[in-house]
Amino acid sequence: MAEKWSPDSWRSKPIQQVPDYPDAKELEKVEATLSKFPPLVFAGEARDLTKRLGRVAAGDGFLLQGGDCAESFSEHHADHIRDFFRAMLQMAVVLTYAGSVPVVKVGRIAGQFAKPRSAPTETVDGVELPSYRGDIVNDIEFKAEGRVPDPERQLMGYRQSAATLNLLRAFAQGGFANLDHVHQWMLSFVENNPAAERFNEIASRITEALDFMRACGISGENTRQLNATSFFTSHEALLLGYEQALTRIDSTSGDYYATSGHMIWIGDRTRQLDHAHVEYVRGIKNPIGLKCGPSISEDDLIRLIDIINPEDEAGRLTLICRFGSEAVKEHLPRLQRKVKAEGRSVVWSCDPMHGNTVKAASGYKTRPFDKVLAEVENFFDICQAERVYPGGVHVEMTGENVTECIGGSRTVNEADLSDRYHTHCDPRLNADQALELAFLIAERMKRDRQGLRVKEAKSA
Ligand code: PEP
Ligand code: CO
Repeated sequence: MAEKWSPDSWRSKPIQQVPDYPDAKELEKVEATLSKFPPLVFAGEARDLTKRLGRVAAGDGFLLQGGDCAESFSEHHADHIRDFFRAMLQMAVVLTYAGSVPVVKVGRIAGQFAKPRSAPTETVDGVELPSYRGDIVNDIEFKAEGRVPDPERQLMGYRQSAATLNLLRAFAQGGFANLDHVHQWMLSFVENNPAAERFNEIASRITEALDFMRACGISGENTRQLNATSFFTSHEALLLGYEQALTRIDSTSGDYYATSGHMIWIGDRTRQLDHAHVEYVRGIKNPIGLKCGPSISEDDLIRLIDIINPEDEAGRLTLICRFGSEAVKEHLPRLQRKVKAEGRSVVWSCDPMHGNTVKAASGYKTRPFDKVLAEVENFFDICQAERVYPGGVHVEMTGENVTECIGGSRTVNEADLSDRYHTHCDPRLNADQALELAFLIAERMKRDRQGLRVKEAKSA
């Protein structure tokens, strides 16, 4: 029998990655304030997302999850949110067409502030300061004062999340997401891309499909699905005091929900079976993501699934696999075989970012675009060989024209990294690279579907 869960039961467990707040009283005060603030999302929305992810788990849908590695207070701007949302929508259109399945759009946004770090302190020129843990905890600037964890920042994180979510909801429902607009943006991406020819075929087929629908009288004016879209938020549930303060009982079901975002995930560094982060998520009903890196064993994965999704509810758990472009070949098959043998329902998603981070000679952290692509390709190959449905991708991306990852058809070179390197944590794909990735995944999906049709025709 599992021990009794409560929103604060995580507090009696060992915990990793906690900020060292100097003033416990002040922290308590902020958490008490947060606990009175309105929820950011409604439980019914989280249930809707679980349902959609359940369809993905069954092979009828694809999860597109993406956004900043870390949102920042200084870059909180309507243009930034708009550009990101626009990039996600374009990717989703391309993937929807190629996969012929609904694409579930989930942003790493409106709450993606807290960061796990590899070391508690950072030393520069002989000066040692606490590591930066995300804007919701302390300041990125390497100065003693700003690096002290400040609870007040949680209030700012909440307010920024609320404002971001408000604009996202307006964009999703207010006409901005109109399919004709998204189509036009996508066409102008293709037109201006050096690899235009490669993307032309899929792009013109989408144009044909839309022309056909228009000829049949289906348009944004008479069909809501063409004029609005659904969009969900997600973040790593790292700062558990903040999460607890926003954990609420849903009056319709009587269940607890994290209301800080629709989906939350556990990072690769905080997924110890008997520790606080796993304890927290087991009691809330939102869809949960679990980052799986090379160190996870098959048995631990099954134990984690038992704890997080004991009822084997489809859509409850997404395994976000982040091994590295080569290591994925060693680790993904063993995990997929085990989960299949145990008969558990999960969404298999590929995070091709976190296992492919390298340091450029200039000192910048970067990710080679070809490594990102290679991990995705290998992910699809392995899923096919293991007869497991490839359910989604999880990427760090922005709608801006940053120079953080090297490569892509509009090539970013190592020497360009310093031009527009703006991330507050890990390097992100820029808008071109993100859309290019979507086109390459689309090509792959199309090939796989054609292969499947040929196979079906032969066996008929
Ligand atoms: C992240 O998603 O930004 C992250 C820290 O990932 P992981 O836990 O997989 O390292
Ligand atoms: Co990251």
